[in-house]
Amino acid sequence: MKVVEEEQLITVMDGPWSPTSLIREIVESGTQEDPFYIMDMGEVVARYQRWKELMPRVEPFYAVKCNDDKLLVSTLAALGTGFDCASKAEIELVTSIGVAPERIIFANPAKMASHIRYASAVGVDVMTFDSETELVKIKQYMPHAQLVIRIRCDAAAAQCPLGIKFGCDPVTEAPRLLKYAAVLGLEVIGVSFHVGSGASETEVYARAIGLSRALFAVGHNVGHKAMRLLDIGGGFPGGTHTSIKEVAEVINAALEDQFPERAVRVIAEPGRYFAAAAYTLATMVHAKREITSNDPDAETHTMYFINDGVYGSFNCVLYDHQSVVAEPLSAGGRVGACSVWGPTCDGLDCVLPAARLPALAAGDWLVFRDMGAYTLPVASPFNGFPVPTVRPVVDTRLACMLKELRPLSASQFASSRAQPPAAGGAGGAPPASAPPAPPPAAPPALPPVFVECALK
Ligand SMILES: Cc1ncc(COP(=O)(O)O)c(C=O)c1O
Repeated sequence: MKVVEEEQLITVMDGPWSPTSLIREIVESGTQEDPFYIMDMGEVVARYQRWKELMPRVEPFYAVKCNDDKLLVSTLAALGTGFDCASKAEIELVTSIGVAPERIIFANPAKMASHIRYASAVGVDVMTFDSETELVKIKQYMPHAQLVIRIRCDAAAAQCPLGIKFGCDPVTEAPRLLKYAAVLGLEVIGVSFHVGSGASETEVYARAIGLSRALFAVGHNVGHKAMRLLDIGGGFPGGTHTSIKEVAEVINAALEDQFPERAVRVIAEPGRYFAAAAYTLATMVHAKREITSNDPDAETHTMYFINDGVYGSFNCVLYDHQSVVAEPLSAGGRVGACSVWGPTCDGLDCVLPAARLPALAAGDWLVFRDMGAYTLPVASPFNGFPVPTVRPVVDTRLACMLKELRPLSASQFASSRAQPPAAGGAGGAPPASAPPAPPPAAPPALPPVFVECALK
């Protein structure tokens, strides 16, 4: 996991912009050779607002594993989300920016002893379990933990199924585990599930909420008198053209039906939902090879080599089963059959085995949208090719609001009049020659969500 130590400067755009227009300005400077991301903070804020509108009862606890970019984590902390951490390092990252331990759930059902001891030391009390062994370990290292049983309830289809690894059977195993926890004198306060990441079924949440309700009753009967937390996990879509409206309707109806009492707190652990669409990746074609067939009628196939691959951002193709879409930054020549390869000297390093793109030349750029989920935290500089830098961008109106919300601070925002974020350098700091920042415009009236956040 990479924690960016230096402060990431956020470029404040005065006037209309889009990730593509910024990428164009940056690459037209002619000095940019390495891949980079444009991170749109406004997208994160819009998604938070949409979540609050559609599922007001469900508190999002962002799953840090999805993208541990410190600025994304800080933005979500500023908005008031909680966090799902899976390890000591993730807890360290989140608490290092000032998030209180009560806003963290340690949502890894198979934890290392030293990580449990660390959680105990810093006051992260809520944690999941799905086995007897874990209960024994927690009894030994953190007997005062507030436990949440993780059950299995899989979506009919998911990009990354999780039930194969985590979650006890809600009917045959969970009642026994709840009883065992009571015998050990441990406190179980709730039930959690994860239907699978990138789930393509919505009704599964209703099934899982129903199973959870039944286990609240079992828990109460075996001695867990304060069952009060339901954690509906992740699985929400995150791409630009996706919506959580349908899944929110299913969840709201199931909660009303099964948990009408407001005494039960409901949280979720969205990762992809907040991270995916906020990050747009720009990559450059640095080499190409034409493959001609012996068949004179067959189309020529072009192999394009770009400066990021499956050992970098496109690990998501292998591990997260993502289908990525390449968009040429500039209109190219005739469309033809091609493949897109990463920069390493490894035959596995193939980003797109079969695509159709306009003819490109070395030095042309390809843009990939929706690249914020399960990309950066796993990327490595294998073979000497750097992991892309992130250039965070926000418009003036939002910047005025965000810089007031801790852990963000005014010093992180660098004004740029129609200036793209600087080429080169981590975090996209503007060049030293950038014009001095104009005095900030009077902030517009804060919408209620920001007032609510600012008061936290
Ligand atoms: C325990 C847990 N919670 C939340 C998430 C985030 O899931 P998603 O990105 O599908 O929202 C994951 C991802 O695998 C996870 O393992």
